[in-house]
Amino acid sequence: MKAYQYPDTHDVITNQYIKHHEPYPQYWQKSEDRILNRLIDHLRSLPEKGRQRFLDAGCGGGRLLPVFAPYFREIIALDPDNNRLNMAKDIINKNNLTEKTSLFNCKTEELKDQQNFDFILSSHILQHLPTNSVFPILEHLINLLNPNGLLAVTTCHSIAPHDVYTKSYLENGQLQEIAISKEEFNRCIDQTGILPAHFFESETFTKTINTLGMERLDFQVFHANIPDIHPLTDTDDLLNASPEMQAQHGRDMYLLFRKIN
Ligand SMILES: C[S@@+](CC[C@H](N)C(=O)[O-])C[C@H]1O[C@@H](n2cnc3c(N)ncnc32)[C@H](O)[C@@H]1O
Repeated sequence: MKAYQYPDTHDVITNQYIKHHEPYPQYWQKSEDRILNRLIDHLRSLPEKGRQRFLDAGCGGGRLLPVFAPYFREIIALDPDNNRLNMAKDIINKNNLTEKTSLFNCKTEELKDQQNFDFILSSHILQHLPTNSVFPILEHLINLLNPNGLLAVTTCHSIAPHDVYTKSYLENGQLQEIAISKEEFNRCIDQTGILPAHFFESETFTKTINTLGMERLDFQVFHANIPDIHPLTDTDDLLNASPEMQAQHGRDMYLLFRKIN
């Protein structure tokens, strides 16, 4: 079987997307940092016994491993793309995390049961998966959690009252973004050079995860697709000022769930 390769090699499409959409340089990073800080505040409030084992389910190049490492005794990180996992290895070495980190070259669904994680991160993964595997994979992750364990998800957010699908690619160096059907989305998965994205309608997404025995603790939208934002404005606070504002804004969303005993 051909080894898995993430379709956006070296993140060229994603970087063009950010360049095209961010209202000022560094906004994209600042917007995600706000989410990471919210999540870290939550992790800090957990008792010691709830901060033992952390799984980064789809760590990519490993950029988030040093961010969460200080709060956990043991880290498991996996990614099916071996090139990205090698980048993660470098980050682990540079940050002196080798002793507490184990890396696996596999897909989330291939990780075996009975893992007892306290915290699982799924950062920008679900939007790139075949549609019929999203909830089985989430169910698998939930099975790997301890009672009271936390699942943090960041993924694409639909501002329509239903899920939306797109594909992005570069043509003569220019970003092309096209709305596509769910069927075409599923056909595009794994085609190098084309990045399909699934934007989830947040209420349906939440309700489905609730049925898997999880309660939602936090929900925020981020990465505003609004031109002309001034760098000094706390745009992301405004986007999240009410459920109505959240429904209309944000290219991405962050959800934090706790496993009910
Ligand atoms: C957009 S990147 C996000 C990487 C990282 N989580 C981050 O936030 O920087 C998507 C990653 O998902 C990985 N991936 C694809 N299918 C996966 C699966 N079934 N299980 C786990 N990771 C997967 C890809 O190899 C790629 O590294």
